[in-house]
Amino acid sequence: MSDIKKLIGDTKQWVEQEKVWDDALYATGAASNEQRAMSEQQKTIQSVNSLPIAHSSLRSSDKDIALKSLYEKYKNCVRCPLGPTRIKFVFGVGNANSEVLFIGEGPGYEEDRRGEPFVGKSGQLLDKMMAAIGLSRRTNAYIANIVKCHPMVNPQTPEARGNDRPPAPEEVATCSPILLQQIAIMKPRVIMTLGSPSTKMILHTRDAITGLRGKIVAFDVDYFYSLISEIEELKIDGETREALRNTKVVPTYHPAALLRNPNLKPESWTDLKLLRDLLGKSGA
Ligand code: URA
Repeated sequence: MSDIKKLIGDTKQWVEQEKVWDDALYATGAASNEQRAMSEQQKTIQSVNSLPIAHSSLRSSDKDIALKSLYEKYKNCVRCPLGPTRIKFVFGVGNANSEVLFIGEGPGYEEDRRGEPFVGKSGQLLDKMMAAIGLSRRTNAYIANIVKCHPMVNPQTPEARGNDRPPAPEEVATCSPILLQQIAIMKPRVIMTLGSPSTKMILHTRDAITGLRGKIVAFDVDYFYSLISEIEELKIDGETREALRNTKVVPTYHPAALLRNPNLKPESWTDLKLLRDLLGKSGA
């Protein structure tokens, strides 16, 4: 095929993908509009998403086993004030062998009740965003948060809606060993941080997400290593450290920010394409 034909083909495919994304994935109106906009591709995505969760359906791998034992170790954790008020410990979901790890900030109302990250409105949008680049929590991606228990504005009223808040720095610091160990076990090739708190934690920066998104940032394994080795009994081996040297971080907006401000969606799509290219480049 001539270069020019290939270019036209690629461009067509690109435009179509963007249309699917814009029509179906970014539809924030009534559910019926979303249904109308649903293309064949979306139906496929839905059927993929209804498969059993990867780590319960696939043959157990070493990574699954290691994650399971990490979960067992921390599932009753009460080391910070979020522990005693949670309903469920929200560890993470997805395929432990995935090349990509999405990191949010913390469970909300729905997640606290279901024990799974991103199952509320922003989770539905996240699923669509992931699906647009061929990813799913059921098959080839993993999702976790920087804190595993629900941060509430008023923990006395756990039944109240709109009671979510970002995790406090001390809560993040106390909980981060769990996420750091998840990263060490999974050794993802790419981490996509969702929103400010997770981006700040993973990149140990105070910079705003607006200035960080749209870039590919190297994961600072030495900082990570120093953090994890300060924690009693936690060690990462040389092989893990070497693997994590190649891990890249792609920060983007949190889906909740996109729901609040749809004007951010084109930038988030740019970030997702960056992630897709990064995964595609070496045959992911
Ligand atoms: N927002 C997050 O950051 N994480 C969740 O799990 C749900 C909402």
